Amino acid sequence: MNSNLLASFQDSRLGTLRSRIAMAAMTRGFCGPNHTATALMADYYSSRAANGVGLIITEGTVVHSTADGYNNVPHIETEEQTESWKQVTSRVRQHQGKIFSQLWHCGRISHEDFTGGVAPISSSAITAEGINRQNSKPYGKPRAMETADFQDVTQQFVRAAQNAMEAGFDGVQLHFGHGYLIDQFFDTRINQRTDGYGGSIVGRCRFALEITKQVIAAIGADKVMARISPSREMGGLYDWPDLEEMLAHLLAGLDRVGLRMLDISCANADYYKTSGRVIRNIRPIWPHFLIGGASLTFEQGDEEIQSGLLDMVTFGRALIANPDLHAKLLKGQELVQFDREMLTKLD
Ligand SMILES: Cc1cc2nc3c(=O)[nH]c(=O)nc-3n(C[C@H](O)[C@H](O)[C@H](O)COP(=O)(O)O)c2cc1C
Repeated sequence: MNSNLLASFQDSRLGTLRSRIAMAAMTRGFCGPNHTATALMADYYSSRAANGVGLIITEGTVVHSTADGYNNVPHIETEEQTESWKQVTSRVRQHQGKIFSQLWHCGRISHEDFTGGVAPISSSAITAEGINRQNSKPYGKPRAMETADFQDVTQQFVRAAQNAMEAGFDGVQLHFGHGYLIDQFFDTRINQRTDGYGGSIVGRCRFALEITKQVIAAIGADKVMARISPSREMGGLYDWPDLEEMLAHLLAGLDRVGLRMLDISCANADYYKTSGRVIRNIRPIWPHFLIGGASLTFEQGDEEIQSGLLDMVTFGRALIANPDLHAKLLKGQELVQFDREMLTKLD
């Protein structure tokens, strides 16, 4: 099949990539003791690399023990954790694959059960609604971040990014989407601050820009991507307030601090109603590396590449169900449909 999506290509930062298929970050909850990566995780990621995925973004990987909010997810804070990721990166590299570590701070989407007993942090002290499925309890009451916390959390991201480099990753993806800590600053429903990190668009974007700047200073712009979700479906359709002005300000700021790689996510929404719509506004103001996806068929993904809207298309669930997605698409074979039952094991 003649397709841009399946062909290898050369990127000025990442080098040769085996295809324009990117594996979207997906939490799986199969870490080893002390939140380490395991040989099974190395098998899982390397099988996708072996089968032609151009770029793998790992599952959300927690930057600090107080940043966690989930059961059995990996971290990249300690030496032991950093060391454990080497088996994953080296196995992926054996197949000429590229792999980024998704760096994650859950903020208020957490509970003391996951943070070592301390209150989760957020932009404001507003508890997330609902029951946390991770421990079947209400979410923890967050503490609004204080001045010293900003430097601490920025340093947690910086150290995690440095650890990712030590572990052999090709880069990191800063998770600024899906209602987690940084998104809790973008969101006016949550961010009620009256200091420089709240209120206006400038204030709400400040923390994301500071973290990006510091991480780039530490490991270089060629190694840093950010993921944002300006329009998404998570318990209902949601767009950032002041969407266009916010995007204009944030993207100009990210550009200014040197960011060159961006992933636009809509969680599990219909792409064309959310990310796909926003990407049509982003492309003219973001001439750099741009990836996105969700819910797309192969033909639709290929079309987004052909028309120059995206540089790579992310696939998530299809890659859980089909480790050999690339080969199947190439041969025109039918894909196995994703089923939530598949999340109970890692293979
Ligand atoms: C099991 C599962 C876990 C996920 N975990 C993460 C995550 O850790 N970080 C993240 O940014 N997105 C996460 N997502 C969202 C995916 O990256 C992706 O945006 C979503 O699955 C839609 O793409 P798809 O239709 O190709 O599956 C997760 C999705 C699934 C299905």
